[in-house]
Amino acid sequence: MNQRVKELVSLGRETLFKVSDTPGLDSEILLAEALGILRFDLLVAKNNIVDAETVAKFYRFIEKRKEGVPVAYIINKKDFFEDTFFVDERVLVPRPESEFVVTEAICHLKNYRKSPDVLDLCCGSGCVGLSILRVMNCNLTLSDISADALDVARKNASDLYQDKEKIRFIESDLFNRIKGRFDVITVNPPYLSRNDMCKYVYGPLKHEPEIALFGGESGVEITEKIIKQAPDFLNPEGVLIVELGYEGADKITSNSLVLQKIVNDYNGFKRVAVFNLRK
Ligand SMILES: C[S@@+](CC[C@H](N)C(=O)[O-])C[C@H]1O[C@@H](n2cnc3c(N)ncnc32)[C@H](O)[C@@H]1O
Repeated sequence: MNQRVKELVSLGRETLFKVSDTPGLDSEILLAEALGILRFDLLVAKNNIVDAETVAKFYRFIEKRKEGVPVAYIINKKDFFEDTFFVDERVLVPRPESEFVVTEAICHLKNYRKSPDVLDLCCGSGCVGLSILRVMNCNLTLSDISADALDVARKNASDLYQDKEKIRFIESDLFNRIKGRFDVITVNPPYLSRNDMCKYVYGPLKHEPEIALFGGESGVEITEKIIKQAPDFLNPEGVLIVELGYEGADKITSNSLVLQKIVNDYNGFKRVAVFNLRK
């Protein structure tokens, strides 16, 4: 049976209704990907008949989504800040909340005259550090404990930038193998607690890497280690910009750095903490 674009979008939406919070959007993105067009062009193409091969591809995508696979892993891309990043099961899917880390870093660096040194710890796909580089001419170091995640970050760096000699990649457990001092250290660490892991990781987050999610029993253990160690890696005017989990701001304690500000996200949650050195 011949199927039109608009009928396939509806069918996808109805199929995903129970498994996704955004069934219509998911269906449109997956069909646009199967057709090899932009989602916005679906409107113009809404009455076009879709060939059998593309329909079969779309159905395969919908089946994966029904199993809970994130759209970003199915199409291997995710928009973040000003770029589209390659993603797969080796890295966390970049979240819009993490863009607040990027904007805070840019705000801090905008008055620097020299090319600043930026470290993006726990870099995953590299979305945070590479987005800073999109706007700021800086010497960027991307670091993660996962060699797999670093491979994805390397791919994104080479897809998005020709000027690659400016980017260093370091496989490291937090600061263990990091040398030198930085003007900005950004980090979106794993920050789910044991309870959160039971709630989410065996449910909606089951396809994302556990190492990207579990932050210790209370969720803030890794964050606290980073705050404690960061002073040895910051330049005198440098800042540490940390993404926090839900209620993270109330759980963290810091004697080693001074909390300069907390930034709320789109939902009003305390999402990002900016720290500087004690004077
Ligand atoms: C929440 S994800 C953030 C990824 C990326 N920065 C983003 O915002 O999408 C956390 C990342 O921390 C890495 N990670 C976990 N434990 C680590 C450790 N002890 N040292 C360094 N990286 C770690 C994981 O491999 C994962 O890539």
